Amino acid sequence: MTTQQLGHDLTTTRAPFIEEARNRGNLFIRQPYELYSETNQETWRRLYARILPRWRKHANARFLEGLERLSLNPRRIPRLEDINRFLAPLTGFKARAVSGYVPSYLFFDCLRRREFPTTITIRPAENLDYLPEPDIFHDLAGHVPMHTDPVFADVLARIGEVAHGAALSVLEVPDLAERTRRMESMIKAMARFFWFTIEFGLMRAPQGGVRVYGSGLLSSRDEIVHAVGSRDVQRHPFQMEWVVNQYFEIDHFQPLLFVIDSFEHLQREVDRLERWVRRGKLSNVSPGEPEINETDLQSFLEGARG
Ligand SMILES: [Fe+2]
Repeated sequence: MTTQQLGHDLTTTRAPFIEEARNRGNLFIRQPYELYSETNQETWRRLYARILPRWRKHANARFLEGLERLSLNPRRIPRLEDINRFLAPLTGFKARAVSGYVPSYLFFDCLRRREFPTTITIRPAENLDYLPEPDIFHDLAGHVPMHTDPVFADVLARIGEVAHGAALSVLEVPDLAERTRRMESMIKAMARFFWFTIEFGLMRAPQGGVRVYGSGLLSSRDEIVHAVGSRDVQRHPFQMEWVVNQYFEIDHFQPLLFVIDSFEHLQREVDRLERWVRRGKLSNVSPGEPEINETDLQSFLEGARG
């Protein structure tokens, strides 16, 4: 991208501040709040205003409580330091600004330390509905309110522990090709688990039907409605055997979603995921999406040694 195409604000894929941080190899950065333009702020306002009624109707109660507890401002992009002042005393979690894609092992390792890698750019004003990259609306409004719940926060940190255990478990495999193959399979399984719970999870609602707790759904005005109500969506009770072997695609509404009973239920499933890692049950999952790229694979193979 040439500098001509770059703006002077913090719009996703067009922000010089981010380009420069990446060129310097800086993954963890500050949130240069002064760079948000009025258009960026207006994008936040519009995204928030149009999704709020749908959150009230379809979001999990813990998410709605989280919005209150973080005092998220519907009118201004939040400052991470303000969010963290509310969040850290509740569960120890912190949102930490990143310049872009976080290699898979590093991402999980952040969770282990109760840090959530958070994108600080915001989607272009002309593209409110879908963008493949995460942005601050997805990360802060979609994910972070859930991190105020102690059980959910434990689940997230435990997923980080499972990833660490998975990386350690292949260290003693002497043959490099076999070590790599097993690692790739485990990363795939963990990515699928994360996708069908943290990103696209549904929970059985006490009043009947389902409520949304997955952040991919909570940050999409149209998919949140589709996920709970469309007849085109298969909704099944969470089943580990299925989830870790189920491919997914990111560029369209999800046709298949899994329903948990409670966050305590999810906690038990993470325990199970950990046992499956230890027993080698994730070393040979079904091929297919997501494809694990070299950066992610290396991050795991090297991460456990670091
Ligand atoms: Fe996400």
